[in-house]
Amino acid sequence: MSSIHSYKGIRPFIGENTYVDPSSVLVGDIYLDDDVSIWPMVAARGDVNSIKIGARSNIQDGTVLHVTHKSESNPDGYPLTIGDDVTVGHKAMLHGCTIGHRVLVGMGTLILDNAIIEDDVMVGAGSLVPPGKVLESGFLYVGSPVKQVRPLTNKERNFLSYSAAHYVRLKNEYIAETNE
Ligand SMILES: CC(C)(COP(=O)(O)OP(=O)(O)OC[C@H]1O[C@@H](n2cnc3c(N)ncnc32)[C@H](O)[C@@H]1OP(=O)(O)O)[C@@H](O)C(=O)NCCC(=O)NCCS
Repeated sequence: MSSIHSYKGIRPFIGENTYVDPSSVLVGDIYLDDDVSIWPMVAARGDVNSIKIGARSNIQDGTVLHVTHKSESNPDGYPLTIGDDVTVGHKAMLHGCTIGHRVLVGMGTLILDNAIIEDDVMVGAGSLVPPGKVLESGFLYVGSPVKQVRPLTNKERNFLSYSAAHYVRLKNEYIAETNE
């Protein structure tokens, strides 16, 4: 049984060498770039707006991705946009927000409508990013609601790309196993 469904005639687009675990559910207007990985039990619903995930990003187990519909007072609604080389930890919830490149979203974090996470940011596990909040590039944020803690160290900045590359290698192993 396929976990990839169309909604109003729009079917998720899956890029080259992108891995989608069969237990995840993808619906509607979703664009997954190349080398993305979608891990078990992810639910992504691109029904009332669109979801875009950039190259080499990974969405880990149990994460929920959704969007906000367009209306008279909010003509564009809130789509969900995730950049390249992003790591989204287990059981996060990303709703109608914009995430830049090389971001780590800690496990269990909630990011709400119209929040913007700039490039090269780490959000600690279990954080809450309120609606419309902008997280500045190059910093660590933790807490509920999130507070800026300190600039990222060089080691942490390097880890952002490392983590994405690690998940690209891991999903390649899963793809190879599936094709055996
Ligand atoms: C925030 C994080 C990066 C650690 O940062 P750090 O600066 O090394 O933090 P430390 O471990 O030195 O702890 C510093 C303080 O922050 C607190 N802290 C650590 N992580 C926290 C979090 N996620 N939320 C709130 N507070 C946190 C510690 O308790 C400590 O508090 P204290 O000074 O009162 O004792 C790490 O805890 C984290 O959340 N990583 C995300 C991991 C993840 O989800 N990865 C994705 C899945 S693969």
